[in-house]
Amino acid sequence: PRRVLSGVQPTGNLHLGNYLGAIRQWVEFQNTDQVDDEGNVVPTENFFCVVDLHAITMPQDPKDLKESTLASAALYVAAGIDPKISNIFVQSHVSEHAELTWLLNCMTPMNWLERMIQFKEKARKQGESVGVGLFDYPVLMAADILLYQAQKIPVGEDQRQHLELARDIVRRFHDLYCKGNQYKKRCKAAGIPSRQPFVEPEAMIVKEGARIMSLTDGASKMSKSDANDGSRINVLDPPKVIRDKIKRCKTDDIRGLEWDNPERPEATNLLNIYLAVQPDRTKEDIVEEVKDMNWGEFKPLLGDAIVAHLEPIQTRYHEIRADEEYLNSVLNDGAAAARGIAAQTLKAAQVAMGFATKA
Ligand code: TYM
Repeated sequence: PRRVLSGVQPTGNLHLGNYLGAIRQWVEFQNTDQVDDEGNVVPTENFFCVVDLHAITMPQDPKDLKESTLASAALYVAAGIDPKISNIFVQSHVSEHAELTWLLNCMTPMNWLERMIQFKEKARKQGESVGVGLFDYPVLMAADILLYQAQKIPVGEDQRQHLELARDIVRRFHDLYCKGNQYKKRCKAAGIPSRQPFVEPEAMIVKEGARIMSLTDGASKMSKSDANDGSRINVLDPPKVIRDKIKRCKTDDIRGLEWDNPERPEATNLLNIYLAVQPDRTKEDIVEEVKDMNWGEFKPLLGDAIVAHLEPIQTRYHEIRADEEYLNSVLNDGAAAARGIAAQTLKAAQVAMGFATKA
């Protein structure tokens, strides 16, 4: 089967960037039949993970981590990830993620990680106290993906470099450990097939939601780590808060709205959001509506459109959170399904490296 895997870190509240860049795409993918070149429907298995091991690469208050983790999982379901179709699980519930990370750590050159833009940005903010885990973050992410032989990885634009790294790790691993008769012999002795354990993953990036920018600065992306909550719309913000944030968000002095004018990043961003929360409309239709408006006319429309899109998700979210047993059963089932595959892949990687695996 074809496999899809993605994840979001459970840090605080998920925002519109996480939702439009990642989760909404997962929902669409899950609900669309995947067909091959000949038009045959390809069976697809979806894995959506709450990456709590990634979250702790930045300082986390232990009193919040559990709540954020459950809240994120509930939001996946509320946004439309159907546990009957897709597997939802918590990364730390499947210990193979941490184990494979160690194997990959030992064959990934340090200088590949030193090039990672996200590490450099986050490390700068942390100063002297930056943890080893933050440096290692992309290797853990590679392990998440490789354990499931996932081919398609739906993410926002900022994850492209991490996916390139995952591909490089696959090639290096296969080159170092999965060639020749010795490899075949090791597999045979362990009773496993001698095909390569991993698959090179590919990023899947949406157009309009790929890079949602901050509401207070059209040049930097909407982010959980921005100290100013007014810079982002959180998926669980109440309607009044959403409308207020939009009312106060940064704009310019020009009348009329337009897309893709490099001088007007805020206009492009707000139009992208306006389009993304109205999936039934086209860009042309929206341009026609707003091209002569001033910001004062446009902002209430935008606020209303976001509220209308998020309200059903919020309602569903609160229903799910009221039934802890249901959420736990979703996560237990998801982890069981994930573990079944992850354990086989980890074993294949161990055999490739020559470990004395348990007989
Ligand atoms: P995280 O939690 O930082 O982001 C989760 C997802 O949200 C996307 N995203 C955005 N998209 C558009 N505009 C934005 N402003 C914006 N901000 C965030 C991210 O691109 C991402 O898709 N390292 C991953 C989590 C991860 C993962 C994985 C993803 C861990 N293991 C395996 C895929 C496969 C991350 O960025 O999390």
